[in-house]
Parts: sequence; structure tokens; C-alpha cells
Amino acid sequence: RKPVTVPGLGAMKAEGRKIVMLTAYDASFAAQLETAGVDVALVGDSLGMVVQGRSSTLPVTVDDMVYHTAAVARGLAATLLVADLPFMSDRDVPAAMAAATRLVAEGGAAMVKIEGAGRICEVIAALAERDIPVCGHLGLTPQSVNKFGGYKVQGKTDAAAEKLFADAQAVEAAGADLLVLECVPSALAARITQALTIPVIGIGAGVGCDGQVLVVYDMLGLTPGKRPKFSKDFLAGQGSIPSAIRAYADDVRAGAFPGPEHSFS
Ligand code: KIV
Ligand code: NA
Repeated sequence: RKPVTVPGLGAMKAEGRKIVMLTAYDASFAAQLETAGVDVALVGDSLGMVVQGRSSTLPVTVDDMVYHTAAVARGLAATLLVADLPFMSDRDVPAAMAAATRLVAEGGAAMVKIEGAGRICEVIAALAERDIPVCGHLGLTPQSVNKFGGYKVQGKTDAAAEKLFADAQAVEAAGADLLVLECVPSALAARITQALTIPVIGIGAGVGCDGQVLVVYDMLGLTPGKRPKFSKDFLAGQGSIPSAIRAYADDVRAGAFPGPEHSFS
């Protein structure tokens, strides 16, 4: 398999080929993603919840992210590696530069993901200027959970939808190469996807995005508690973790996942 690259993701959008993204937190899962032909591996700060057992992503540190990113990198070959900038590591340009440098240089990430727009666009621009590829993240940004008052669908009113649309354009203009939209009504996510040149990856954002991402433990039915509406247990009906990951990749590429039952209207 040819290595997946940042320009290659842009070409996939231009050619209408769906991008398959999945989280990983260790080398064994990373190797499973690699074998299944997943395009992008995300070391999400969701590791704070699904690996560390915390109730939010806020306690995750740059050290945590570097540790898991380096572990995942050892399991990958052709899959593109993206790592999250954890809570407040992006508080200003120098802090974000230092954190991103560690994720790339020590962790082996090819791209860093950063939540939000507004003043975050200044940080995105600074990273892009130094040729560190950036993935934006808008909609339900879990690092904003205290401001949101819970994990809720975003962009539901006309005003919120217009704000989200403008934020997505601002993130692209600042120099991001990829954008994740989380828990956004499908029609709005599709509108943003069509308006942007960069690929848009959805999670709870409908099938109209350029690709999909899920938390790997959610899509294997491993996460305790209620399964999020936007996820699907791909292990049920498959006999093994490798075939579950392959089924997810196949369904994303075929536009068969997510269905309306995994999306918000
Ligand atoms: O931390 C994470 O896993 C994420 C994805 C759910 C997009 O940010
Ligand atoms: Na995250």
C-alpha cells in the first residue's frame, strides 16, 4: 500500500473517494488499522476517557499524547498519523508550537488536530506557516464540554448553523488541511463539506462528509455504557476485530455508514 499523505487526502476528496479514519491508542490496534487499510489513524484525546477512565478529555496532558502517539506510530506503515493537541496545550501560539513539535518529533505524528475557531485560527495559521499540517475540529468539541453543559449536538439553530459554517471557512482560510465535524446535523455538515476545498471528516455528521471517524472502542462495542447514537457496533455480526475494522472501512467507502439512524437531522 502506498503511504497516505496530506496532499493525498485532498486528492481523495477531489476524486470523490471516501476517507476512512479511526482512533488508535497503542501499537496493537494501530497494526490492525494498518492491515485493514484504514487511511488515517487518530490518536484522540478521547484516550482520557476510553483508556484512562476519566469523565472528560480535559485532564489529558501533552506527555500522555506523546506516549500514545509514539506507541501508535510503531504499529503503522502507510496509514497517516494524526494526534490531538490536548486541552489548553493550544492556549497561545508558543504553547501550541511546543506541543505540536513534540507530537511530530517525538510522537511521529504527520498532522495535529486542534478544536475550535476564533482565536484558534491564529494558532492554526502559525502551525501551517511552519508546515505542520493541521486538522481542525468543530461542532461538538469535547474540550468545551463545560461551556456546552454536556455532550450535545451543535449547530441546531439557524444562528448556530451560520456560525459553524463561518467557523469552518475560517479554519480552512487559516491553513488547515483537514476538518473534523462532530455531532452536527447532516444537512449542515453536507453544506460545509461542499463549500470547503479541504476534506471534511464526520462523526455524527451524516454521510455527506468526505470521510468518517469513530472511536475504535465504540465501533467494537467495548466502551462501557450506552453506545453513542452516531456509532455502530461493527464487531457484532463480524467474528473478529480485523474483520470488524474492515467492515467499517468498506461501509464508509461504499457510503453505507453512517445511516440516518446514526445521524442527526
Ligand atoms: O479524541 C477523539 O477521539 C476525537 C474524535 C472522536 C474525532 O477527537
Ligand atoms: Na479529540
